[in-house]
Amino acid sequence: MRDEDLRPVRPYPAELEERLEHRGRHLVLRPIRPQDTPRHRQFLARVAPRDLYMRFFTGMREVPEPDLAHFTHIDYEREMAFIAEVADGAEAGDILGVARACTGADQRVAEFAVLVRSDLKRQGLGTLLMHKLIRYCRERGIRELRGSILMENAAMLALARSLGFLVRSGERNVEEVVLDLAAATPAAPGAPLA
Ligand SMILES: CC(C)(COP(=O)(O)OP(=O)(O)OC[C@H]1O[C@@H](n2cnc3c(N)ncnc32)[C@H](O)[C@@H]1OP(=O)(O)O)[C@@H](O)C(=O)NCCC(=O)NCCS
Repeated sequence: MRDEDLRPVRPYPAELEERLEHRGRHLVLRPIRPQDTPRHRQFLARVAPRDLYMRFFTGMREVPEPDLAHFTHIDYEREMAFIAEVADGAEAGDILGVARACTGADQRVAEFAVLVRSDLKRQGLGTLLMHKLIRYCRERGIRELRGSILMENAAMLALARSLGFLVRSGERNVEEVVLDLAAATPAAPGAPLA
């Protein structure tokens, strides 16, 4: 595939960038963009195989190279992926987590997925990213946010419940979670920086 074929149709939505302090660390929450491919590759290299399995539902030691470009070259019209990136210091630019949502043709329903670097789990990053994604989806007029979660994924099921998602029985070993965006209004964590 040529680089031109991968460029997003809608321009990079820089207005969605946000700087904040999260548990003593300065972060940038922002849409992913094509230039993030090397950092995104480094991020995925620091995700344990079990966490990759929880995210992609298939066993892999690493994400295949051809798939990487699709994670960073997105059409912002029908997809959004927010990254949490270190804002300053020696690790500036490092990606700590990603939350993404894709809409169907009618833009009423979006499917989400979220992934946090394995050594940084349970530090509120998943919650932070999901709040950003939920706010964005609500502002876009999307009515419902859905996710498919492996039944054994206690962490994500707990996180989804804490965000107000309802858990529906899915198929076999997968639960479907649904958030009514018109009804739910969770408070956003993280103190914005001046
Ligand atoms: C699921 C995942 C995104 C959660 O991210 P995180 O940054 O660790 O989550 P948070 O720190 O924001 O946790 C928020 C809440 O979720 C629940 N939670 C998170 N991890 C948990 C765990 N291992 N066991 C039980 N509850 C857990 C808790 O209620 C937690 O709040 P608390 O820490 O105040 O008790 C992360 O574990 C991950 O990337 N997992 C692998 C990929 C994956 O499963 N993705 C989901 C597929 S859609």
